[in-house]
Amino acid sequence: MKILLTTNPGIEDIVEKEVGEKIGASVSSFHNLPGKLITEIDEKEIGKIFSLRSIYHAIKYVTMFEIKTSDEGLSDIYRNLKEIEIEELDNANTFRVTSQRIGEHSFTSIQVQKYAGQAIVEKYGKKVDLENFDVNIICDVIGSKCYIGIQLTRESLHKRFERPFNHPAAIKAPLAYGMLRMADIRDGDTLLDPFCGGGTILIEAAQIWDGKIKILGSDINSRFLKGACENIKAAGVEGYVFLKTADARRLDEYYGREIDKIVTNPPYGVRLGRERNLKELYWSFLNTAYRIMKPDGRMVIINLKATSFRSLILKTKKFKIVHERVVETGGLYPHVFILELI
Ligand SMILES: C[S@@+](CC[C@H](N)C(=O)[O-])C[C@H]1O[C@@H](n2cnc3c(N)ncnc32)[C@H](O)[C@@H]1O
Repeated sequence: MKILLTTNPGIEDIVEKEVGEKIGASVSSFHNLPGKLITEIDEKEIGKIFSLRSIYHAIKYVTMFEIKTSDEGLSDIYRNLKEIEIEELDNANTFRVTSQRIGEHSFTSIQVQKYAGQAIVEKYGKKVDLENFDVNIICDVIGSKCYIGIQLTRESLHKRFERPFNHPAAIKAPLAYGMLRMADIRDGDTLLDPFCGGGTILIEAAQIWDGKIKILGSDINSRFLKGACENIKAAGVEGYVFLKTADARRLDEYYGREIDKIVTNPPYGVRLGRERNLKELYWSFLNTAYRIMKPDGRMVIINLKATSFRSLILKTKKFKIVHERVVETGGLYPHVFILELI
């Protein structure tokens, strides 16, 4: 069975590794589209898809057909959908169609949804329900090709743990997972997120390493830390994570030279308002982080101001950049840096 997987553009290699490890299947790019991958797996392995941490959605690939990019394309979609057999609809009462359109077309994705939906109503006699649907039919249009699929993930897999507290600048769990993988964490390591906010990275780590590593989190804002505490409890990992209020500009006042890995998402100065002195924050953080990290330690850090952050790292003369990549998240293109001590 062919399954389409969606992720953050920039961490496709992490999906490839995870799918290989957990399902034993290989993945390839889906039409070179960033963040979209395709894999082929045995039908009895399908349940394993839901344990993947690096993806948002999984879509069962049904078929592809050619369409015109002019208005006639809508009739092509209507006609083709009347011919396609969608077995998931047999026992369903309701459905919805969602569509993403990439390229130049004289119609909109809303029109695609309407024409595809009309064909299904006529063919199967099922009702459209945008909220309480039994089947979510994907009808994506990419240039002159239309792809039909069935979304297997009802909710995005990034919502994998309950969050009583929603941090305004929380990182998405699949990206947190990708960064944790880049940190090369080993059993027995001590991991710190010194800008932990609502605790996404900490919870992700606690669920993956399940007691095999020590996990520390801190934030300057005690309200966020209280929220992190609630989220950690709700995720059932409170025994594994230790929190304290701490200023990341003075980490050596709170921690000894005990940290193997730092994985963190400091403020970008976007969602939490303009940080007046972001450069000063990054500079003090890097210098103090150096003093609490073990000599063979590694830091994975995501930052939107890549150029100035890169020159700050080099200016410290304390860290070397061993890897840097761009990722996309929420319409922003931050860089993920992997740093090691010099
Ligand atoms: C982008 S948010 C982190 C969000 C977090 N990854 C999550 O998923 O919820 C950055 C965090 O850095 C914290 N922060 C800002 N300045 C700080 C400082 N000097 N020391 C420690 N934390 C700081 C903010 O309070 C905020 O919670």
